[in-house]
Amino acid sequence: MEFSIKSGSPEKQRSACVVVGVFEPRKLSVPAEVIDSAARGHLSDLLRRGDMEGKAGSTLLLHNVPGTEADRILLVGLGKEKEFREKEYRAAVATAVRTLNETGGFDGTIYLTELSVKKRDVAWRVRQAAMVALETLYRFDQMKSKKDEVRRPLRKLTFCVERRNELEIAEKSLLQGQAIANGMALMKNLANLPGNICTPGYLAEQAASLAKEHGLGIEVLERADMETLGMNTLLSVAKGSHQPPKFIILKYAGAKPEVKPIVLVGKGITFDTGGISLKPAPEMDEMKYDMSGAASVIGTMKALAEMKLAINVIAVVPTTENMPGGAATRPGDIVTSMSGQTIEILNTDAEGRLILCDALTYVERFEPECVVDVATLTGACVISLGNVVTGLLANNDSLARELLDAGQDAYDRAWQMPLFDDYQEQLQSNFADMANIGGRAAGTITAACFLSRFAKKYDWAHLDIAGTAYKSGKDKGSTGRPVPLLTHFLMARAAENGKA
Ligand code: BES
Ligand code: MN
Ligand code: ZN
Repeated sequence: MEFSIKSGSPEKQRSACVVVGVFEPRKLSVPAEVIDSAARGHLSDLLRRGDMEGKAGSTLLLHNVPGTEADRILLVGLGKEKEFREKEYRAAVATAVRTLNETGGFDGTIYLTELSVKKRDVAWRVRQAAMVALETLYRFDQMKSKKDEVRRPLRKLTFCVERRNELEIAEKSLLQGQAIANGMALMKNLANLPGNICTPGYLAEQAASLAKEHGLGIEVLERADMETLGMNTLLSVAKGSHQPPKFIILKYAGAKPEVKPIVLVGKGITFDTGGISLKPAPEMDEMKYDMSGAASVIGTMKALAEMKLAINVIAVVPTTENMPGGAATRPGDIVTSMSGQTIEILNTDAEGRLILCDALTYVERFEPECVVDVATLTGACVISLGNVVTGLLANNDSLARELLDAGQDAYDRAWQMPLFDDYQEQLQSNFADMANIGGRAAGTITAACFLSRFAKKYDWAHLDIAGTAYKSGKDKGSTGRPVPLLTHFLMARAAENGKA
């Protein structure tokens, strides 16, 4: 898709289709009013006759509107003006793009970016419009033998801004939005692939091709390297699988080498059967998404590299399958982690924390500015927060605040949960330094408590994306979250560095 930014009058656009909004009930937005005057009341006549109410999600496609240069005018319903916020704005852009793609014109000129959205500036509106447009057009048909071809697909989209002095900032936001959407698409492609294709080896290959494309540094540790390092908890998860585990390290250097790196760690369980503590059959297929954390940090590296942010970032991906088998870890087995702390594995289905804890120890060597791990870690997170927000826990409140703000900005929100010491007791073990499970109560918090024991040497935050990384049911698929949150966090950090 080709994108551009423009400022100019809607009736003068030579385009296959010009898109303007209509509020409910029957109230033209400003660009729609401009077209209406050029067309001598053509649009207001239609509204008066009841052809369009302006309900959110509704559309009306008009051909050969008098006084205009475009082949078509698409009216998009926006809902009530008073209730028009971020969510409604995003939905309107999605409706516009979906309709344009089905309409048969090769290009569209969208005026929705001129609408005012409470507390959001033109930069936000354009960035989000680009993200939403690309998300709307995303398809995953890699595994279908026959792809559904759109007859005359949309090739070019133009977003309009009111004033010429907004062009520069809008151009910049457009590139950011595209970069984030490309990162999300990479995450989705990796996460939507089935476990028999997206193996740890496949993730390592994809990381290598991303590194090649963008000049990132890459290192992949093999089982033998992990043995030498003493990553026994990670290896204990890999024992039941025939797929060799990998430990992927991707490095982006956008700032001077003396600038401390931000480290992102992503859970890469390419399939989670539960191991010997086998999961029940229903919906087990969704456990192919248990590498969404890994996919999100790889996707974020893509976005960041496309934006050429002036920071240093290292992505670390411990990746393996969690399978049952003759060599698999048994409940009750005790392993010594890379940190030296011993762990009694009471439930082999609490495997995410086992691969992450060694990664958290490994990253100490980078002397990180901070570490953020991302994981589909607990079913309990889906119970407490649903599919709306990502769970956030941190050992540093200002880092937590930054991530919450980034989530707000990106419209990819997170919500903080407490990491009080009182919860640590639940991890007590009679036989080792700790157990890998903390009982039914506060499952998301005790999982984070477990990780916190390996993240003592730096500022650290944990994102539990079990509810937000993918959708179930008829819309089953990866959401690309939290690539927008992570990228906004890095953008804000880069802006801070610029000031320093
Ligand atoms: N990958 C799962 C968490 C998960 C569950 C993600 C549902 C998405 C949807 C994780 O490895 C897991 O199995 N966690 C257990 C932990 C329990 C055994 C303490 C869980 O949440 O049930
Ligand atoms: Mn599990
Ligand atoms: Zn898991």
